[in-house]
Amino acid sequence: MTDSEIAFAKINLALHVRRRRDDGYHELETIFAFARHGDRVSALGGPPRLTIEGPFADVLRGEDPEDNLVMRAARGLYRLADAGSPPAIHLDKRLPVAAGIGGGSADAAAVLRLLCRRLGLSIETPEVMALAADLGADVPACLMSRSVRGDARGDILRPIDGSGLSDIPLLLVNPGVPLSTGPVFKAWDGTDRGPLASGDPLEAALAGRNDLEPPALQLCPVIGEVIALLAAQPGCTLARMSGSGATCFALFESADQRDAASEAAFAEHPGWWRLASSLR
Ligand code: C5P
Repeated sequence: MTDSEIAFAKINLALHVRRRRDDGYHELETIFAFARHGDRVSALGGPPRLTIEGPFADVLRGEDPEDNLVMRAARGLYRLADAGSPPAIHLDKRLPVAAGIGGGSADAAAVLRLLCRRLGLSIETPEVMALAADLGADVPACLMSRSVRGDARGDILRPIDGSGLSDIPLLLVNPGVPLSTGPVFKAWDGTDRGPLASGDPLEAALAGRNDLEPPALQLCPVIGEVIALLAAQPGCTLARMSGSGATCFALFESADQRDAASEAAFAEHPGWWRLASSLR
């Protein structure tokens, strides 16, 4: 039995913001998809504690590991299952933090998958799904980690036929500027620009938008450069920001074109973070 899980990077292929709610959240319509790559979480022996390494570990060093969403997920699940203390968790932080690609939500969801397996629980148990939603609006989608449509806070999920999305070559690029989710939603102008189409998810995504792009661009103008560079690459079928940014994604007709685009991004901006992957 493997004792680790990949926290697959989350991409919002489209994200329509419809209205501000009284609870401070926003009503969304989104298509979640997931990359084949991500952070890795592992369960270790010993008392519950979190250790972090990897290229983006330093960003989290100043924070109390006990408050990390990963440990809150582990403790919450063991409490729910009345299973005593959770194990120690090791997090290999390979994805940029505060980047619009799941981050802490994907890590917490991966820990829930890992520990549900240990405890013999299904991730689709209503109590597990409710715990996931409590941890964050994106955690239920990250728990599924397959293409899914999200409504309400992004936590009411409807399966979609993701067969047309699977294996599409994907490039993620982040300009190295952290962007917190809350301020981006706060800067949204409140204009409802209309629903996200239903039906074929790729067609809906292509016809859709990310309504958080304009407010994110205000806070972090370099996002415009990232999208323009990706959109100009041969074979790019869609270039857009994911979630609240600042990571942008591009879909490509072929893996070779994706790799060439990654090289082109590196040539112009060697400091930008890149991940060549494909949709799950
Ligand atoms: O649920 P989570 O803690 O991941 O959300 C982070 C922040 O993103 C919230 O505090 C809120 O400001 C914003 N948000 C929102 N509407 C959503 C999801 C998130 O306003 N549907």
